[in-house]
Amino acid sequence: MLVLPKGLRHIPGHLDRAGQEQLVNEIRTVVGQAPLYRPEMPRTGKPLSVRMTNCGDLGWVADKAGYRYQDRHPVTGAPWPPIPDMLLQLWRELSGDSRPPQACLVNFYDDKARMGLHQDRDEQDFSAPVLSVSLGDACLFRVGGTERSQPTRSFRLESGDVVVLGGESRLVFHGVDRIYPTTSTLLRDGGRINLTLRRVSG
Ligand code: SIN
Ligand code: FE2
Repeated sequence: MLVLPKGLRHIPGHLDRAGQEQLVNEIRTVVGQAPLYRPEMPRTGKPLSVRMTNCGDLGWVADKAGYRYQDRHPVTGAPWPPIPDMLLQLWRELSGDSRPPQACLVNFYDDKARMGLHQDRDEQDFSAPVLSVSLGDACLFRVGGTERSQPTRSFRLESGDVVVLGGESRLVFHGVDRIYPTTSTLLRDGGRINLTLRRVSG
């Protein structure tokens, strides 16, 4: 049996196919207003393999200067589009927090993209959980403890799955080892979308 750290919830198939299709349409609208771009690693400027954009009052960005939240798209300079109602509803349902999310990071993974083990700790307040939604191709998700040296385990995330990192698991290390190409028909051209909703300022 896979024992997950306390405060970490994996909810397989939380969104049914119709819900996933509706959400993809909402995300297409977001990406139409705030195009995906390729962020860079702090200092080295090495491009990440994942393309990103955001919606909400604040967006998470990465470039040579570092990681931070800002209220504008780094390429277009425009404010981020609003978080779709469907995601606000999902947050109300699952976050256990009465405040609305301030940021929604949109990650797009092609067949080769991955994300190294990291903590989500650029927020000023960790009392609200991070709520993450998977759409499209499956991935191998890895999760460890709150110290990098702690053991990790991995499991598959499928389209429609939701993961909640809250409580004692709010700061656990996590990452995406690999994408499993052609495992979903949701996205016409394949790939995986991950949406993460967060509170930033408390
Ligand atoms: C992230 O940690 O930002 C993304 C996690 C995921 O793609 O499932
Ligand atoms: Fe993360």
